[in-house]
Amino acid sequence: MSKPLVKVKDLQKHFPVHSGMLGRKTGVVKAVDGVSFEVYEGETLGIVGESGCGKSTTGRLIMRLLDNTGGSIEIDGRKVSELSKQDMRAMRRDIQMVFQDPYASLNPRHTIGKILEEPLIVHGLGNAKERKVKVSEFLKIVGLSDYHINRYPHQFSGGQRQRIGIARALMTNPKLIIADEPVSALDVSIQAQVLNLMQKLQKDLGLTYLFIAHDLGVVRHISNRVGVMYLGRMVELAVSESLYGEPLHPYTQALLASVPVPDPDFTREVKLLDGDIPSASNPPSGCTFHTRCPFKMERCLQEVPQMIEVKQGHSVACHLYDGAQ
Ligand SMILES: Nc1ncnc2c1ncn2[C@@H]1O[C@H](COP(=O)(O)OP(=O)(O)OP(=O)(O)O)[C@@H](O)[C@H]1O
Ligand SMILES: [Mg+2]
Repeated sequence: MSKPLVKVKDLQKHFPVHSGMLGRKTGVVKAVDGVSFEVYEGETLGIVGESGCGKSTTGRLIMRLLDNTGGSIEIDGRKVSELSKQDMRAMRRDIQMVFQDPYASLNPRHTIGKILEEPLIVHGLGNAKERKVKVSEFLKIVGLSDYHINRYPHQFSGGQRQRIGIARALMTNPKLIIADEPVSALDVSIQAQVLNLMQKLQKDLGLTYLFIAHDLGVVRHISNRVGVMYLGRMVELAVSESLYGEPLHPYTQALLASVPVPDPDFTREVKLLDGDIPSASNPPSGCTFHTRCPFKMERCLQEVPQMIEVKQGHSVACHLYDGAQ
């Protein structure tokens, strides 16, 4: 396997919760609570889980849009917390983000040409002429043309706007793209086009993707490996064939059972998820999934299950698999 581009270890982000008239700190939301994983060069790691489980926070921590409360992030073998200002700037070029809602993330008053040129100006890349050539090149790469340069975001369809969001992310020749639900706001027919484009770009440009989605169906074809998060923790991480073929964690099984399947004769063994996701400011004891788990045992209420590799390339954090039932 290729080498890890990103190494995240015991990553934590706790947000303070303030309440009352004086706004005193009354607790914390454990948005990310001890997550470890690696993203290998050239691969796509999918991160999946229900709303509020900490996917976006994980992405923002890697981007350094947020500071972590605990744990460490290494990029290209270097601890991010130890980088000098100058190295940090260079690193920001190497990691770019694509957002769910391209309309909200593209300045409505700027033309597409200006939007795409901006990252080059920010990072001091090229002169005016070189920048213009590059904008035109990247418009083509994402399936648009020079003809679109002087238009504004509202003049494009949702799918085209996401192509522009992708082009903007590519302008600085990044190594890693963190795509936070990049197709969730698009029509199903357009989703496939954008996913295909992202796959082609990955191959052509040698990109590494961290691809966030709330649905296992979306990341299936694009991901080499998939990590499943629940309430700020990683509960299962496996190569795609293994995760989809033999999901181990009851939460993953439930998530998979909620992905629509075209075959009406297909019968499901696992019940869909009961109840809501508990609050991250007051998570259940032990295994935080125990309140919704059909296989709950006594020890699940007390002991936090650790991630263990139960077979090659397949890790799970669940007492059903840690041998001491
Ligand atoms: N800036 C913040 N201040 C306080 N709490 C926050 C902040 N950002 C996120 N949270 C909380 O952290 C938890 C994780 O949020 P996050 O946005 O990472 O989840 P997510 O998995 O991306 O969800 P979604 O699928 O809805 O995008 C949630 O409980 C959220 O309310
Ligand atoms: Mg999110």
